[in-house]
Amino acid sequence: MASTLLRTTPAIRAALRTPAAKPAAALFGTSFVRSKATLPDLPYDYSALEPYISGKIMELHHSKHHQTYVNGLNTALETVEEAKEKGDFTKAAAQAPLINFHGGGHLNHSLFWENLAPASKEGGGEPSGSLADAIKRDFGSFDTFRKQTNTALAGIQGSGWAWLVQDKTSGTIGLVTRANQDPVTGNLQPLLGIDAWEHAYYLQYENRKAEYFEAIWNVINWKTVASRFEK
Ligand SMILES: [Fe+2]
Repeated sequence: MASTLLRTTPAIRAALRTPAAKPAAALFGTSFVRSKATLPDLPYDYSALEPYISGKIMELHHSKHHQTYVNGLNTALETVEEAKEKGDFTKAAAQAPLINFHGGGHLNHSLFWENLAPASKEGGGEPSGSLADAIKRDFGSFDTFRKQTNTALAGIQGSGWAWLVQDKTSGTIGLVTRANQDPVTGNLQPLLGIDAWEHAYYLQYENRKAEYFEAIWNVINWKTVASRFEK
């Protein structure tokens, strides 16, 4: 964890020292458990992010990978319900890692699709307004923020995500990484997530993942990121 390169608050630093997120189960209230997770529609066509992310990647990523997380989450939640009815709490507790993985995968990808947009529409460029001010305040400049994000992404070993987050108490923003599908939880509000799993780039960029990390800035939907920041 390259925490030395990050400009963070004490709360964010604490989260970095203990990157294992709370189980996603903590995010799901009773009403969620009783309803099924579903694959959200993309707000653009699969090919709309080309040439930066190919249509084939987007189709597989959304319709296959994300769908698998949705299915896995629903199966794990159903197993918990069935185990509870039978009083088999050992079996119910054993679902926690699956709920964290598939639930995190569902949450992370749902946020990811929304924080992307075609370059011909709202994708790319730089944020404006209060988000731009916060980036300048907490990172020094947008360029520094972008470089630190790409360094954090490159430092992820195996699969994971880099997130721009906001400390809910102080309001300051910073970068964190998460392994696998661990979601951002607790006192940190996820603003912008970048998927560093191989399934997000390999078909197009093969082993040149640094090129993917550079390209994706052309399709970041800053309007969505700003709306999460201003909540
Ligand atoms: Fe992904």
